[in-house]
Amino acid sequence: MTIKEVQDEIIRLKKEKDICILAHSYQAREILEIADFTGDSYALSKMAAATGNSTVIMCGVRFMAETVKMLSPEKKVILSSPIAGCPMAEQFGAEEIQMMKEQYPDHLVVAYINTTTELKTVCDVCVTSASAVKIVKQLKEKNILFIPDCNLGSYVAKMVPEKNIKLVRGGCPVHASIKAEEAQAAKKLHPDAELLVHPECIAAVAEQADFIGSTTGIMKYAQESDKKEFIIGTENSIVEHLQYMCPDKKFYPLSVSFICPNMKATTLVDVLNCCKGEGGDEIILSEDTISKARKCIDRMIELGG
Ligand code: 13P
Ligand code: SF4
Repeated sequence: MTIKEVQDEIIRLKKEKDICILAHSYQAREILEIADFTGDSYALSKMAAATGNSTVIMCGVRFMAETVKMLSPEKKVILSSPIAGCPMAEQFGAEEIQMMKEQYPDHLVVAYINTTTELKTVCDVCVTSASAVKIVKQLKEKNILFIPDCNLGSYVAKMVPEKNIKLVRGGCPVHASIKAEEAQAAKKLHPDAELLVHPECIAAVAEQADFIGSTTGIMKYAQESDKKEFIIGTENSIVEHLQYMCPDKKFYPLSVSFICPNMKATTLVDVLNCCKGEGGDEIILSEDTISKARKCIDRMIELGG
């Protein structure tokens, strides 16, 4: 089958079986083309609550599919590739956070949405890269324990200096591996380009950026800017998507190693198989887990607007 034939069959099955396909912006172009909605983690969370279909296929990583299930427990939610996890989501266990809460009883636990559902059961509020600064600014508590991403946490601490933000450890193995020297080299190679980076990058990379934002934030900035050239400091799929969206502009990857293997796990055929009811991984969460974990997602949506 050709890509087009697979896409047509997915579109036919979506209608027949009342399926909504959500795809994170890091997914391949042929997947974004058949999705009902694409975006960053925050936009996908909001969409998860709004979609009216009985089945949702999430093309992304596991915590994203779990967020959909939490917000719509009555729906059948399928993760497009059973092996697509986010390593950062596994960096803390609920027990460790419980112990830290005892150690720091006056701290509010703010969790990046890239966490497991189990971990969310012991956290107070979730944030995404797009919403973190806005949400943390609105919290009445001054003392915050921010987990797991120390790079996003440092960025938030810089943007919201009135808060006392405690970081522990953790981060995205893909974004955090990009070195300051790579940003310097890319800027030297493309002196007229603006550098746009994700806040999961280390501070020494982010400090060199002209703009820091979520995946949607980066795409929006590049589309709306009068500038013509951009170095993209996040997963390389964004470089390709922007090239199609803005054919009169030039986009360069910050690094050839800016690739998330988990986000790349899903193929178009995986999506077709999910539509046929044959593949993927159906997300099953107990009622008790959902009721405990979704409080911090609800709070995120309430404060994030
Ligand atoms: P966004 O919220 O920007 O989509 O980021 C999600 C993610 O996993 C980035 O690595
Ligand atoms: Fe997780 Fe990093 Fe991949 Fe995003 S890019 S899904 S944070 S490993």
